[in-house]
Amino acid sequence: MRTPMIAGNWKMHLTTFEAMELAAAIKNGISTDLNREVLIAPSFTNLQVVKKAISGSKILLSAQNMCWEEKGAFTGEVSPLQLKDIGCDYVIIGHSERRKIFYETDDMLNKKVKSALKNGLKIIFCIGETIEERENQQTYNVLKTQVNNGLKDITDFEMSNLVIAYEPVWAIGTGRTATPEQAEDAHIFIRREIERIFNKHISESIRILYGGSVKAENIDDLMACKNIDGALVGGESLKAEKFLRVINYMTK
Ligand code: 13P
Repeated sequence: MRTPMIAGNWKMHLTTFEAMELAAAIKNGISTDLNREVLIAPSFTNLQVVKKAISGSKILLSAQNMCWEEKGAFTGEVSPLQLKDIGCDYVIIGHSERRKIFYETDDMLNKKVKSALKNGLKIIFCIGETIEERENQQTYNVLKTQVNNGLKDITDFEMSNLVIAYEPVWAIGTGRTATPEQAEDAHIFIRREIERIFNKHISESIRILYGGSVKAENIDDLMACKNIDGALVGGESLKAEKFLRVINYMTK
């Protein structure tokens, strides 16, 4: 059985005080008996204060990015050693905003994946197609390339520390969520590709989250799909009440 995961990507939002308040509100609002993992990914500057705010809870802490090097002359970068030291459980790698705005290539992302795993960080590895790629029937090709290149030379054993997030670029921050059918179709394709590269056991046990305009109003329909194991939530994770509703999908 795959334990569902609801992850909040706070992107470049919130001051330290706001982050602390939001983390505390999420911690206080979570019912502990739900069988699902909850993760929050604040900015680097807010990791420490959020770590403190969620202490004593099962909420997982994630960074949104990292450098593949462990230390050295890399001005402006943050290393996996530093993330581990501060208490991060996860790191998000390959978000489309990193790929598109900051020109991170499959090769760079593969180095990040390897370095994170080597340093004991779990990974949410993001993939997804643009609207042009979808309209040109390139969705499967894009997903296949991103999975194969990003996860090149990763061992079967290491794959148990990796979660995939399917985030169609056209659905991010647009209010245009993929339909449950579109998301499920992509997730099935990704799972088959994982089986082809690795094996059936890994493809059946790996969690694949959906991301892109996930809201309190649409989470239930998405989570009803067999191959959707959770959500990577942007805007809706910045409001405690809304994010808690997403976390509590199908129960309220
Ligand atoms: P939105 O939920 O704001 O569309 O963002 C999704 C996302 O990019 C999460 O990583």
